[in-house]
Amino acid sequence: MRQTVRFYLGEDLCTLRDLSPTLTLLDWLRDRGRTGTKEGCNEGDCGACTVLVVRLEDGRLNWRAVNACIQFVSMLDGAQVFTIEDLGTADAPHPVQSAMVEQHGSQCGFCTPGFIMSMAAYRKAEGASTDDQAIDDALAGNLCRCTGYAPIVRAMKQAMAAGPDRFDTQVAAISERLTALQDGESVRLEGSEGTLSIPASADDLAEILLADPEATIVAGATDVGLWVTKGMRRLKHVVPIGRVPELRALTRTADGLRIGAAVTYQDARPAIAELLPDAGEMIRRLGSTQVRNSATVCGNIANGSPIGDGPPMFIAANATLHLRRGTERRSIALEDYFIAYGKQDRQPGEFVEALTIPIPAQNAQFRAYKISKRFDQDISAVLGAFMIETDDQGRITAVRLAYGGMAATPKRASGAEAALLGQVWDENALEAARSAILEDFSPLTDMRASAWYRQTVAANLLTRFFEETTGGGQARLARTGGLAHV
Ligand SMILES: Cc1cc2nc3c(=O)[nH]c(=O)nc-3n(C[C@H](O)[C@H](O)[C@H](O)COP(=O)(O)OP(=O)(O)OC[C@H]3O[C@@H](n4cnc5c(N)ncnc54)[C@H](O)[C@@H]3O)c2cc1C
Ligand code: FES
Ligand code: FES
Repeated sequence: MRQTVRFYLGEDLCTLRDLSPTLTLLDWLRDRGRTGTKEGCNEGDCGACTVLVVRLEDGRLNWRAVNACIQFVSMLDGAQVFTIEDLGTADAPHPVQSAMVEQHGSQCGFCTPGFIMSMAAYRKAEGASTDDQAIDDALAGNLCRCTGYAPIVRAMKQAMAAGPDRFDTQVAAISERLTALQDGESVRLEGSEGTLSIPASADDLAEILLADPEATIVAGATDVGLWVTKGMRRLKHVVPIGRVPELRALTRTADGLRIGAAVTYQDARPAIAELLPDAGEMIRRLGSTQVRNSATVCGNIANGSPIGDGPPMFIAANATLHLRRGTERRSIALEDYFIAYGKQDRQPGEFVEALTIPIPAQNAQFRAYKISKRFDQDISAVLGAFMIETDDQGRITAVRLAYGGMAATPKRASGAEAALLGQVWDENALEAARSAILEDFSPLTDMRASAWYRQTVAANLLTRFFEETTGGGQARLARTGGLAHV
């Protein structure tokens, strides 16, 4: 058992013994004089605090832009962190820095270090292209108030065409350094500000939670980070799970896709998109690149939020949740995990091990629709995810309609499903389902949407689903002279 947290900051090995488990990376960096990393929102929204975190995963370096304001220093064990100060100098700038200067990508400069770190990370991203949409996605988590985005996008394109940077030439050295940190040891620190336990295996994690069921599991900290920075909560015992190899596994089995509890949305997205293309597209709109680089699929479920984007999609896809307490394991239908607002089917000391998404039937059609005030990086007002199977006569043989934002938990529209099952998937069936939806839910009015709006949207999303799965949309567009029904 190690009693230190070890990681590299730039080229320096940091070995921390006395560490608050919830000290944010942003506060720690700025206290050390690395003030190039800025504090804007302190809640993962603006990207001013973006840093580059490199980890050795399955023998390869994984480069990720993350928001330092909602990342705990204790989560960095075994990693290497680069900040704007590590990037380049006035005499030898990084290609992204040169491009930002040449393209006039900075005015007041407050957002600039964060942008530059996201841009440097994008240069290292697998399959990164100079496609406008891909660049917009990569930079959607960085906000700029004064320059405007066009020069920044131009700078990104210019930087993509530049030669190798200092990271490219240091791959071997970084791998060697990070390999030397992989000792397979669990970590335990007990200090005045709380206890930190970093398990190195699922068995360790199970033991830690049995001994202290009140301990807080931390996966990506994109929720837990805000409890600390905005909720001012003090957590007595923090258990980051990012180093547990079993939980980091993403496996395609005969049953489907098994996503371990420490797998991030960014890493899971391509595999999810292979099974459910619409879910892959939806994940592109979940948070920002920085958020998806930290946020886990299972954290999005474990938090029990009624407005998380993942749960309705995975409920519609008939996913199974795997839980473990000590040596006991159980698997439940994902929808059964959500009992009531703030109440989930998780016993003290139990943790989520993984989620399995089954392979959809050949004749299944799946769609997911997110309705939010802003397209990028916004929480849903309503999310509808639907899976339908029909036979040769067009009769519905299986149907799952799941919604987020319509009730105290993510929930299936059981009345609408009953109205559809066994019917031919036509306009009559659609109308019956639309009426049933009104009985299925009594949503709330809140700052995101009124109850009336939510009800209306929930029914209209069904119409959209009908149009898209029956090909009726084109015919209707022709009939209405281009005005869409939804
Ligand atoms: C700027 C921003 C934008 C966001 N946008 C979206 C969005 O568009 N859509 C959306 O759905 N969400 C969004 N979120 C919320 C958040 O990113 C997701 O809910 C995310 O998936 C949470 O995962 P995490 O790994 O960060 O969880 P954490 O914050 O680490 O944990 C969340 C909760 O789950 C518990 N937990 C984690 N892992 C386990 C486990 N294995 N077993 C048991 N309990 C566990 C934790 O104790 C905690 O209670 C956003 C957050 C931010 C900061
Ligand atoms: S300070 Fe805004 S994302 Fe971190
Ligand atoms: S340059 Fe001022 S906020 Fe971006």
